[in-house]
Amino acid sequence: MRILFITHSFNSLTQRLFCELSQRGHEISIEFDIADAVNEEAVALFAPDLILAPFLKRAIPEAIWSRHVCLVVHPGIVGDRGPSALDWAIQQAVPAWGVTVLQAEAEMDAGPVWASATFPLRNALKSSIYRNEVTEAAVRAVIAAVDRYFSGNFTPQQVAGKAHALMTQADRAIDWAQQTTAEILARLNAADGFPGVADQLFGQTCHLFDAWPEAALRGEPGELLGRRQTAICRATKDGALWIGHVKTVGGIKLPVTLALPAARELPELPLAGYWKSPTPTWQDISYEEAAGVGFLAFEFYNGAMSTAQCLRLTEAFQWATTRPTKLIVLRGGSDFWSNGVHLNTIEAAESPADESWANINAIDDLAEAILCCETQLTVAALAGNAGAGGCFLARAADFVWARDGVMLNPHYKNMGNLYGSEFWTYLLPPRVGVDGARDIMRHRLPMTATEAVRLGFYDACLPGPGFTIDVARRAAELAAAPDIAQRLAAKRAKRQSDEAIKPLAAYRQEELQEMRRNFYGFDPSYHVARYHFVTRTPHSWTPRHLARHRDLDWKVPV
Ligand code: COA
Repeated sequence: MRILFITHSFNSLTQRLFCELSQRGHEISIEFDIADAVNEEAVALFAPDLILAPFLKRAIPEAIWSRHVCLVVHPGIVGDRGPSALDWAIQQAVPAWGVTVLQAEAEMDAGPVWASATFPLRNALKSSIYRNEVTEAAVRAVIAAVDRYFSGNFTPQQVAGKAHALMTQADRAIDWAQQTTAEILARLNAADGFPGVADQLFGQTCHLFDAWPEAALRGEPGELLGRRQTAICRATKDGALWIGHVKTVGGIKLPVTLALPAARELPELPLAGYWKSPTPTWQDISYEEAAGVGFLAFEFYNGAMSTAQCLRLTEAFQWATTRPTKLIVLRGGSDFWSNGVHLNTIEAAESPADESWANINAIDDLAEAILCCETQLTVAALAGNAGAGGCFLARAADFVWARDGVMLNPHYKNMGNLYGSEFWTYLLPPRVGVDGARDIMRHRLPMTATEAVRLGFYDACLPGPGFTIDVARRAAELAAAPDIAQRLAAKRAKRQSDEAIKPLAAYRQEELQEMRRNFYGFDPSYHVARYHFVTRTPHSWTPRHLARHRDLDWKVPV
């Protein structure tokens, strides 16, 4: 069946639904919700059997919903209506929440219900709930709704509902003197991703993001207690919280000490080494050990890896290789494993070209350290999504195990035709073939973990529930295997023979030569694309590779 997606953007949820429905044999085309007339044109061109709106910020025009069944994914339970659905649920700390797939009608979110799914609501960032629980629930509900629609024997039911208002900054306001840590955390969590909570820091208005609980530090309510790397710690009346990112007025979202120079003057509150703190605190790189396995986690906000983060992570990885372990598991973060170089810190630099160069070299150094590790086997365990260079950085490990449901974007061209580095020219072709590598890079489409394993790019796709435990068990088995010494010897021999055929330095130099052109050459596409990406400029057209109905040779099947 032909299904047209009308969506605000091709975000991770939309990508996941695109992959899941395509795998079920449906033909999907995408139109970004730019203007009613453009949507109507897309409907006329594609003549869809069904329209799906996975992520919309405006209502579907009557000219469309009155003639076609349009299913809308609403991030709320049955009966919930209106904007800021997830924000209200998180801020009010409801125990369970859900996703409803309903039919578009005149009143927003009030149409008949085709399917729904629920989940227990975690105490976590809204962006994390959206990428995990909401996405999984949406997949279940959309597949049920689509099956019901095409079965032709399901009648969706109208349900009574209650509409809530758009959550304003007044609803989100934080009072550091009066509110408890839990109340403030709930507000910051509910606003994460977008729009953040408006507050004042160093006399400057800014929006706060990326909150972390703190268990040990105390101070006067509202007092800034200190900083750790790029984050700052602020006291509440019964504890303290860390803030990792802020967006200043007219600025972009940045690590706090980069956005607000005064924050650099705060006293440093260091953690000794990489071992995971036993109590909650801000720790972006942490290490644990069990059963001969070292687990290195890097909880970098949005999966973006700045030059400084890459340098610190390389240092931590090198330290982990000195431990008496047989295996190192690179855990990444809980929402993202890695999305490659940090486009926001690059944008904020005095010379974005120079910072791009420094950042790509720093991430390449990390990839090289992983590739050349002779003392342990390495596993990249992807609990969260990965994009661009992050997908290839993971492939630098000896094994890549991904959680079922993880979305991958192993290509670079969407960022202004970037060539890419991270040794992808060494890592990708042997896995998927030269033609396969060219297709992945050219098509610029997302891929599920299952697909990545089917293609041979990654090694295993493990079930979502229990992924962390499963990874730890498999890693312990691998570390305890009687042939671990032979495996390590085989790994060293393979690296040596590969090096003799073509040195890693040659791959790197060839890739970086292309990247140098992207950063410093005549064509400014990468700088333009990065600017639009970091400033979240609304789309003004749908890329051709997504809008299949706009292909020159597209014809509505008769
Ligand atoms: N640098 C800085 N920020 C990044 C980032 C990067 N490399 N990748 C993602 N982000 C941020 C986004 O700006 C967004 O920020 P927000 O907090 O304001 O919402 C957030 O991470 C989530 O990204 P979004 O695009 O909404 O997530 P998604 O899951 O829908 O899409 C990707 C994932 C990977 C497809 C998309 O984020 C992307 O294309 N990232 C850029 C990858 C890249 O080109 N890296 C550089 C080359 S190595």
